[in-house]
Amino acid sequence: MKKILLTATLFLTAVSLVAQTVARMSDLTPQQKEGATDLILTGQLSTVGNSDFRQLRDLCHRLKRVDLSHSDVLEIPKNAFHSRHRLQQVILPHTLHNVGTQAFFACDSLQSIVLPASTATVADAAFLGCKGLESLIIEGAPSLGEFAFARCNGLRTITVRSAIPPRASASTFEGVDVRRCQLSVPKGSEDFYRKAEGWNVFFGNEKAGFEICRPEKCIVPNPEQLEVHGIATPLLVKQTWMIEADSQLDNEKKHALRILADRTGVKQNGRKGKIRLRLGLDNTLGHREAYTLRVTAEGIDIMGKSPAGVFYGLMTLECLLAADGMSGCCDVLPQMVLKDAPRTDMRELMVDPARIFIPFEELKAFIPEMARYKLNALHLHLVDDQAWRIEIKKYPELTAKASSRVGMDDMLIPIEGYYTQDQMRELVAFAASYHVDIIPEIEMPGHEVAAIHVFPELTCGAKQLPIRTTCGVSNELLCPGKEFTYEFLGNVFAELADVFPSEYVHLGGDEAGNPALGCWTNCPDCQTLKRRLDITTTDRSENWRLQEFLFGRVIDTLRTKYGKTPMFWYETDFKNIPEGCVTFAWRHGLTKAAAEAAIRNNARIVLCPGEHCYLDYPMARGDMPEVNWGMPVTSLQQTYKLDPAWNMGDAFERENLLGVAGTLWSECINSTERIYYQAYPRALALAEAAWSRPERRSWEDFRRRIMPVLRDMHRRGISYSMEF
Ligand code: ACM
Ligand code: ZN
Repeated sequence: MKKILLTATLFLTAVSLVAQTVARMSDLTPQQKEGATDLILTGQLSTVGNSDFRQLRDLCHRLKRVDLSHSDVLEIPKNAFHSRHRLQQVILPHTLHNVGTQAFFACDSLQSIVLPASTATVADAAFLGCKGLESLIIEGAPSLGEFAFARCNGLRTITVRSAIPPRASASTFEGVDVRRCQLSVPKGSEDFYRKAEGWNVFFGNEKAGFEICRPEKCIVPNPEQLEVHGIATPLLVKQTWMIEADSQLDNEKKHALRILADRTGVKQNGRKGKIRLRLGLDNTLGHREAYTLRVTAEGIDIMGKSPAGVFYGLMTLECLLAADGMSGCCDVLPQMVLKDAPRTDMRELMVDPARIFIPFEELKAFIPEMARYKLNALHLHLVDDQAWRIEIKKYPELTAKASSRVGMDDMLIPIEGYYTQDQMRELVAFAASYHVDIIPEIEMPGHEVAAIHVFPELTCGAKQLPIRTTCGVSNELLCPGKEFTYEFLGNVFAELADVFPSEYVHLGGDEAGNPALGCWTNCPDCQTLKRRLDITTTDRSENWRLQEFLFGRVIDTLRTKYGKTPMFWYETDFKNIPEGCVTFAWRHGLTKAAAEAAIRNNARIVLCPGEHCYLDYPMARGDMPEVNWGMPVTSLQQTYKLDPAWNMGDAFERENLLGVAGTLWSECINSTERIYYQAYPRALALAEAAWSRPERRSWEDFRRRIMPVLRDMHRRGISYSMEF
């Protein structure tokens, strides 16, 4: 104890020697915020909007130590220091009442924390994943939420001054290494702690509950048919398993072994076991991704139309084993028969490493999580005005000169990195083992400033452009009148076709003509092209004809040379959807027009309307990102309400609808953990909208069914927005 106090005093002295002392964040210049490592704040700190806390988190990216003990603050707001990996020390004020949800989520360099006696609540997941946290001192008796200190497996000492155990939940210290962590409580109060929920784990005294899975309460997305039989002779799952699989199912067998070992906590080799898991193919099933899952007292049979179907059966099995999400694995499964198949073929999430780079291993780790919910495509927005993120061997200058910059709007952070082609091949193979397709996107003719920065000859007038460091839309476009534009795109797509085996390739196409394509109007090369194409209008429709020409040439190459299906973001001026292409309905209020265009052109469409599917928008007022370009709120219920068929009828659903997508544009997402925060739980709503039949969907039921899934996510250290 003395040692800890001494360390805290020394730390305070160290902070005061190097720290800047200010009342509030507004006393610092943007450059001072960018450079700050040690801060002492003494004023009344704001918690809403572009608050002092938001600025500490998002603008002080070097911050290591912050002393709030002289500040006037009652609350550390939700997400206050969410995923600030460099933060080592925080001194909390003696006036503190509450620490909000996920306030220190994954602050994994944080070493010690003292919760002052005034603290009344430490909310759910407040310190979840603070793996470097060694010492925790609780001066009073605050109520400690679910998963509040979960996965803090570096904890070695917890000192509580209250003789009455603070209220805790069974999950408060989930994943803490209780054998290596010393709990010190006031003399004479040990017995209270021994019996108290949450604290009992430190005494090896956890109540050994017997958990029965309730299938109708925990599967997301909801399956097509589920019949649960009596639980009189259930299947005991925490045993050794023997896995039998058809020869084409080696990959699924590996997943099965992984799931059973992870969940049951029993050593598994899959060869010998007390119960049997049988994986097989059943050609009589309808959809390519359909499966059946049957649980009997002897074991489980999963039959799929294809390996993908078997894989989805395994994803459902994992959901069943996770059950209520508290402990990682239930004890028994009731006997049941489950039949399932997706409503739509493509269930996509899109990520944007162009605006803020996503390191390769973290991008890879995103895949198993989406696959759990039967999402099957990951769309990579690889280039934009702010960066070029994919190695092109013919043009090494692209990544050399356009993959590193400082700044994304007010965040003056260094943002750098790109993916090598070898990494992308590794990603494709890894994703394939989870039945996730990787779809690359190269924007044209807009959102291409990074490429133009490297090759000015790509744009009209060969202008020298700086890489963009703000959000918004640039008026500078690729020039359709120059042959180099086609040569460049042809060479880029030739290399990508070799790296990404997906049937699909996305060409962007958004926001180049709306506002209109002014940059083409006065360009001599564009004028020559217009004359050649006999385009004489001057009402700007001529620009759309030019865009059509540019797209036509690229689409033709992609289809005939590489057998690809090009995709693009729908704009109303695209009167024709070229044959063999897929359009994406994304703009607020334009989905019906896009669907009608798809019907008219006999084309396929993916629905990602901003009203439901823009997962980068805040999920509630005040939720992250607190500062943005004016995004509307997209609540969980609003996402859930998505009708993938947009009430356009059976023929549309059958002939035109390919699937749905959720976008995670990254202008405001400055850590990988925050990608998950934005994505979930809305990606669960999207998954259910895309997978489950309308008669199997109900908001109230979904709202209940996600709770175990979300608990399991926190148990596994995944962040999600709790604002619903
Ligand atoms: C988009 O959101 N610009 C497709
Ligand atoms: Zn031009």
